[in-house]
Amino acid sequence: MNDRRNILVTGGAGFIGSHLVRHLVKQYPEYKIINLDKLTYAGNLENLRDIEEAENYRFVKADINDADALDAVFGAEAPDAVFHLAAESHVDRSIEAPLAFIDTNIRGTANLLHICRKHWQTDASTASLQAEKGAVENEKRFIHVSTDEVFGSLGDQGLFDEETRYDPRSPYSASKAASDHLARAWQHTYGMPVIVTNCSNNYGSYQFPEKLIPLMIRNILKGDQQLPVYGQGLNVRDWLLVDDHVSGLVAAFHNGKPGETYCFGGDNEWKNIDLVKKLCEIMDDKLGRARGTSAQQIRFVKDRAGHDLRYAIDAQKAKDELNWMPSQDFESGLRLTVDWYLSNTDWLEAVTSGSYLDYYNRHYTNR
Ligand code: NAD
Ligand code: DAU
Repeated sequence: MNDRRNILVTGGAGFIGSHLVRHLVKQYPEYKIINLDKLTYAGNLENLRDIEEAENYRFVKADINDADALDAVFGAEAPDAVFHLAAESHVDRSIEAPLAFIDTNIRGTANLLHICRKHWQTDASTASLQAEKGAVENEKRFIHVSTDEVFGSLGDQGLFDEETRYDPRSPYSASKAASDHLARAWQHTYGMPVIVTNCSNNYGSYQFPEKLIPLMIRNILKGDQQLPVYGQGLNVRDWLLVDDHVSGLVAAFHNGKPGETYCFGGDNEWKNIDLVKKLCEIMDDKLGRARGTSAQQIRFVKDRAGHDLRYAIDAQKAKDELNWMPSQDFESGLRLTVDWYLSNTDWLEAVTSGSYLDYYNRHYTNR
């Protein structure tokens, strides 16, 4: 690979995107990072205050559905790599209002692939050339960042891996599955150097507090808010620290092969209710409350429609072929995460004011 790269990150003002952008800007001063983000409710430039003045960083406010804006960015910056993270990402919102997920996750991904191909000038002949060589020597890379939810739901046994058949079951996961198919179609048909990654649940700093862990931290902190656990709290998720996902994405970029898929997960399955109780314990300690105090806020509420029972990933291929390994054990990762939210209550307040409260009240009142 060349030392110098121009890297376009879409969705770089969101949770995972901001961690990825910060990592690339700091660790690779020889790379130029262009962060393109629409700044929806989930995108926040506060997430990147510490690097916004960096010489190798530029922010562009744009929608991935805006072909002219994408064309202009590709023309001006000539990115030779794309990390595509821009998406509507919350399952509950996809149940309430699915069409935004179709627009951004499906239509927006197709638009991005279309403009990218135009600038990279790959076409059907590139695809056959690559097929003949059996490998892509072109250094360009399109890293399509996706989710384990495309695989559907597991029973008590088994793990998802790169060979698992797609079986998405929510509007969110169906839209992500469609986007994965589009990315692979552009690889197969036009020779676009696409790598698809599918990751399990991330946690860490700067996660929008509509997602389980930051939502619970916020509500525990408030003291008078319920901790809404869907159904009986028996659904299982496989949690990975966001920095470990970022290291996987960068490893896929540097060491992955176009046309391949890599799954990332934490080997770290938790039933929701056990995780919420663990957070209550940690928060009781941090806030100097008697053990058991925060857990009194737990309420079992109406289940999520179509709630997938269990996700868990076999990440052996990423470990073997990308030399990737999660670094953080969960208990200490969770404590560090709680510390971050406790030290950043201004951020928490700012992102949960305004339109978020409308969503929150609509979603949880009388649930
Ligand atoms: P997020 O909701 O925190 O951030 C999404 C970002 O995309 C925001 O900054 C938002 O402003 C931007 N965006 C949304 N629509 C856009 C549009 N039309 N044009 C340009 N920008 C737009 O999401 P996240 O949790 O950081 O997830 C990032 C990606 O990783 C998503 O593709 C998601 O499917 C995938 N993923 C997330 C997880 C997880 O646990 N959070 C796990 C696996 C994969
Ligand atoms: O698996 C990867 C996916 O993880 C990503 O693709 C998604 O973008 C990300 O949002 C996440 O999806 P989940 O639906 O698993 O995450 P969420 O934090 O919304 O919920 C985690 C579990 O907690 C899930 O079983 C639903 C439950 N839950 C969630 C909320 C918000 C509750 O019990 N109560 C809640 O209030």
